[in-house]
Amino acid sequence: MIKGFIFDLDGVITDTAEQHYLAWKRLADAMGWHFDREINEQLRGVSRMASLEIIADHNNVQVDDPTMMQWAAEKNEQYVRALDEVTADDFLPGAKELLTHLKREGFKVALGSSSKNAKKVLQQLGATPFFDAVADGNSVKNSKPAPDIFLYGAKALELKPKECIVFEDAESGIDAAKAGGFYSVGIGPEERVGHADVRFDSMKAATLFEVKSYFKELF
Ligand code: BG6
Ligand code: MG
Repeated sequence: MIKGFIFDLDGVITDTAEQHYLAWKRLADAMGWHFDREINEQLRGVSRMASLEIIADHNNVQVDDPTMMQWAAEKNEQYVRALDEVTADDFLPGAKELLTHLKREGFKVALGSSSKNAKKVLQQLGATPFFDAVADGNSVKNSKPAPDIFLYGAKALELKPKECIVFEDAESGIDAAKAGGFYSVGIGPEERVGHADVRFDSMKAATLFEVKSYFKELF
């Protein structure tokens, strides 16, 4: 029986990919590196340090860890500043409706995000009250595709993986959900999240009615 839902944040509840892109772009420009939206796509769901490693690899940059950490901190400063502009208008279409619906029906809801800034994003959106638990980049050591973030979220909800549906927009996020034994809903194109149990093009299409219709025997 499904008793809970675990949501990724960036790309599912709100779309912060653009703010991440602009912050990385600013660092890349300052360093004289190549960085474009195609590379940015590869950073979906990937932790901050792993993202920087991907960008550095593209530019054949190899430096020591303290330097990498300094660059990541600079990017983050820029990103956090941009988050001040996020408001309650920035839910992805359909996301707030789904969260409202789930609360009304008494489901438990957790966040499962790789971001260390997740709580700030929830606050900016005014979304904090929708979540019974928050699992984020500060909660666990291994990020997606490891299942740790979702397992942490399920435990906080006092639920087993098989009692939860995970919503994810990243390939590594669906991998993480599957590795943890969760049911999964992919948000986005077939080539990215086609391996989810069920896929929708957008959150607007992923209504509770549609999700329940797909996982019929579990409700
Ligand atoms: C994920 C994003 O939610 O969080 C990634 O999809 C991002 O693009 C990652 O790199 C880490 O975010 P933060 O806020 O800890 O730098
Ligand atoms: Mg995401």
